[in-house]
Amino acid sequence: MILDIVQYGHPVLRQRCRPVETVDESLLKLVDDMLETMVDANGVGLAAPQVGVDLRLAVIDVSHDPECVSYLRVDGEDTDLLSIMPLVFINPELEFGDEKESGMEGCLSIRGIRSEVRRPLDVKATLRTLDGRTLVVETDGLLSRALQHEIDHLNGVLFIDRLPAASQVALRNRLRKIASQGSGN
Ligand code: NI
Repeated sequence: MILDIVQYGHPVLRQRCRPVETVDESLLKLVDDMLETMVDANGVGLAAPQVGVDLRLAVIDVSHDPECVSYLRVDGEDTDLLSIMPLVFINPELEFGDEKESGMEGCLSIRGIRSEVRRPLDVKATLRTLDGRTLVVETDGLLSRALQHEIDHLNGVLFIDRLPAASQVALRNRLRKIASQGSGN
């Protein structure tokens, strides 16, 4: 089932989401629906608050671009990107490298706005899977950026918050307009 994607201005996008305590039928259904919704919207990632659920859960799929990372290690082993896509995770933790890189970002909850965002290049993400495993994912490129963007959502942070102040001021009217349009459907 394709879910409504909540738009900028909805308070759920500003919440610090709750940890997932139980993986039950309703959570599995939510994950299926989030994956379907992400594909339908041509998104690279989708976090639970974007469909109105304040849980630390997100999905990512960067398989359209298998060359988008220069390395990927899972639990210390070199791993093929496509083998872990789509990536579904709960209760993530994130560590960053020192180097930073700018890259273009958009967000399904902020339709029509894209901007260069400066973020750490390398990440080490500790992710829990739905079947109770822990994956340690080390990578760069688009997967690093997507992990940072989606995990920000779980903390109520949006990519526009990471823009320089002048860019935020320049976007103010467009953001106000999105907020005034409600769900954006
Ligand atoms: Ni987003």
